[in-house]
Amino acid sequence: MDFARLWLGLLLPLVAALDFGYHHQKDMEEFLKNVAKNYSSITRLHSIGKSVKGRNLWVLVVGRFPKEHRIGIPEFKYVANMHGDETVGRELLLHLIEYLVTNDGKDAEVTKLINSTRIHLMPSMNPDGFESVVKPDCFYSNGRENSNYYDLNRNFPDAFEFNNVSRQPETAAVMEWLKTETFVLSANLHGGALVASYPFDNGVPGEPPRARLWLPEPRVELRTLRLEGTVLPKHPNGIENMYFIRQISSGMQDYNYIWAQCFEITLELSCCKYPHEEKLPFFWNKNKASLIEYIKQVHLGVKGQVFDQNGNPLPNVIVEVQNRKHICPYRTNKFGEYYLLLLPGSYMINVTVPGHDPYLTKVVIPEKSQNFSALKKDILLPFRGQLDSIPVSNPSCSKTPLYSDLPSDSAATKPGLFLFLVTVFLVFVK
Ligand SMILES: *[C@@H]1O[C@H](CO)[C@@H](O)[C@H](O)[C@H]1NC(C)=O
Ligand SMILES: *[C@@H]1O[C@H](CO)[C@@H](O)[C@H](O)[C@H]1NC(C)=O
Ligand SMILES: *[C@@H]1O[C@H](CO)[C@@H](O)[C@H](O)[C@H]1NC(C)=O
Ligand SMILES: *[C@@H]1O[C@H](CO)[C@@H](O)[C@H](O)[C@H]1NC(C)=O
Ligand SMILES: *[C@@H]1O[C@H](CO)[C@@H](O)[C@H](O)[C@H]1NC(C)=O
Ligand SMILES: [Zn+2]
Repeated sequence: MDFARLWLGLLLPLVAALDFGYHHQKDMEEFLKNVAKNYSSITRLHSIGKSVKGRNLWVLVVGRFPKEHRIGIPEFKYVANMHGDETVGRELLLHLIEYLVTNDGKDAEVTKLINSTRIHLMPSMNPDGFESVVKPDCFYSNGRENSNYYDLNRNFPDAFEFNNVSRQPETAAVMEWLKTETFVLSANLHGGALVASYPFDNGVPGEPPRARLWLPEPRVELRTLRLEGTVLPKHPNGIENMYFIRQISSGMQDYNYIWAQCFEITLELSCCKYPHEEKLPFFWNKNKASLIEYIKQVHLGVKGQVFDQNGNPLPNVIVEVQNRKHICPYRTNKFGEYYLLLLPGSYMINVTVPGHDPYLTKVVIPEKSQNFSALKKDILLPFRGQLDSIPVSNPSCSKTPLYSDLPSDSAATKPGLFLFLVTVFLVFVK
């Protein structure tokens, strides 16, 4: 018996902890593949396409049923490192992956989250940019863009202005990916500032772009951003005097919200874009709880299926809150499901099937936390669905500017929801 080896074996943890350092493509792939192998029942690793230089764009899915969508389980995603030189989010997502898979069945909260949510994690949307940065640097570097020198966050179709930029493979891959799932909530992790922003990044020409919410300067401990609504003493609701105007066209979050029915926010998590790796434990410790808390918010509001009189689920039916039309109407997916992120309150839901009068039904979203589930409300329509008349594929909105027919209050998600979501995102900065 080799006691030395036995002793060593006892000392080694069952799972080699992910180190706090930067993981380049090869190491990242190895880590993701090991996770997918060691935790095969709750993960699915797939590449949604390749970068210009042929690097895989990996997505790891974590969930009780990771391989495919299940009715009632909302789809959530995080995308990081779309600017290759903004690196903190990339490592945060690798640590988040490790945290989720190693705590499944051990930590009740993580277990419930995995049971109730399908979580898609993309540590790098721009692996070429990341690899091209020579060394950590707090400021702008060449790695921001992809290897064709395109800023991927200016590379999506834009609802408000004509955009003829050449669509990059990374962008095209994300656009295709968005069609494959009914994503409900998302965040896109950046660096270079401390700010959270919500759709819309762009606006109707000639009108001021909508405000971005700036988090306070570094050195302010941000207790505002608490789920329970604890507020920063100086600012009654923690955000009032932090609005700042900045316009971005062809960004990813607007695209998600307008064309993919997914409410995405942009989080800038570090002033330094590419900090030294000794700072990574700090960023992980400060953001871990928020990253988890934000995922839980996918369970806000109401969800369910729409059926006709014969009990057939109806796809492509418009389901929206009355007087909160989206630019492109939100439609049920192929299972007849809808998901609406809503704060507690009373709402009138408007269900529209072509050829029929709109069907209105009231929902009351309770104040109490929903136990890892939105309010469940199936809707039975009082007629047969004429399935043939409902287009089979989601007739997506035109990709050309839509501003000419925008109603002035088209922001279907009023700031209230955004502020609530951001309030659950704790970012402590010292
Ligand atoms: C996967 O398991 C192997 C041993 O079975 C271990 O060496 C490796 O560190 C594990 N990796 C991860 C990422 O869990
Ligand atoms: C999570 O799901 C598993 C498998 O379906 C079940 O055994 C377990 O009780 C669930 N745990 C929680 C905390 O909901
Ligand atoms: C985009 O359009 C502008 C003017 O409309 C034109 O000058 C430019 O060459 C076009 N670029 C591409 C890549 O098509
Ligand atoms: C319901 O939605 C349809 C389609 O979006 C719209 O035409 C109709 O005016 C809405 N009805 C009400 C009462 O909001
Ligand atoms: C919350 O969900 C769990 C299973 O996921 C269930 O056992 C529990 O009864 C639920 N609690 C409430 C208050 O609904
Ligand atoms: Zn960025």
